[in-house]
Amino acid sequence: MGYNVAIDGPAGAGKSTIAKLVAKEKGYIYVDTGAMYRGLAIHFIKKGVDPENREAVAECCRDAQVTIGYEDGVQQVYLNGENITSLLRTEEVGNMASKTSVIPEVREKLLDLQRSLAREKDVIMDGRDIGTNILPDADVKIYLTASVETRAMRRYNELREKGEACELKEIEQDIRERDARDMNREIAPLKKADDAVLIDSSDMTIEEVVDRICSLCR
Ligand code: DC
Repeated sequence: MGYNVAIDGPAGAGKSTIAKLVAKEKGYIYVDTGAMYRGLAIHFIKKGVDPENREAVAECCRDAQVTIGYEDGVQQVYLNGENITSLLRTEEVGNMASKTSVIPEVREKLLDLQRSLAREKDVIMDGRDIGTNILPDADVKIYLTASVETRAMRRYNELREKGEACELKEIEQDIRERDARDMNREIAPLKKADDAVLIDSSDMTIEEVVDRICSLCR
C-alpha cells in the first residue's frame, strides 16, 4: 500500500492547485479524480446523452474506457485511448460531470482505477469522496473549503485572465448549484470525513495552505 493523502472539498476550493504543490514538495503522485469524471462527461457529451436520463447514461458508460497516465509528472486522461486532457476544464464538461456523477454506474466505473492507483503508489488524491469512500484508511485526510464568494471570485479572476467573458453572479450561482448537487446526492456525497482536518482557505494564501498540509504529512 502506498502512502495516501486524501483531499476533498467543493468546486473551486483550490484542491488541484494545492495538491499539485504538495505532491511536488513531498514526491507524491497527484491524482485528480474530478478529471476522470470529466473524461466520462466528454464521452456523454460526444454521444449526446441527456444527463437526467440515468438509464441512458448507465448504458453509455459501457463503451467508455477512461485511463490515466503521466507526462512529465502531469496527469493525462485518455478516453478510449485518445488523450483528451486539454478538453476537460470547461464549464460545460464540469457541469456534465457533476450531473452524471450522481449515477451509480458512473461512480462504479472509476472506483477500481482510483483504488488501484493508491494501492501501488504514494499519492495525494483529490475529489469529493476520497476520504469518506475511496480511501477510508488514507494516512492523512483533508477537507479543503472556502466561502462561496471567495471561490466564485477566484474562478472569475481565472476566466478573466484567460480572456473569457463571464459574470461574477452567474459563476456564484453555478457554484451554489454544483455544491448542492455534490453534497446532496444519494451515493458518496461530498462531506467531511470524521477524521479529516478541516482547512478553510478563504483567508489563507496558497503557500500557507500548502505548508499546513505538508506539516500533516510524513
Ligand atoms: O473537481 P472537479 O470540478 O473536476 O469535479 C467535477 C465533478 O465530478 C464534480 O462536480 C463532482 C464529480 N466528482 C465526484 O463526484 N467525485 C470525485 N471524487 C471527483 C469529482
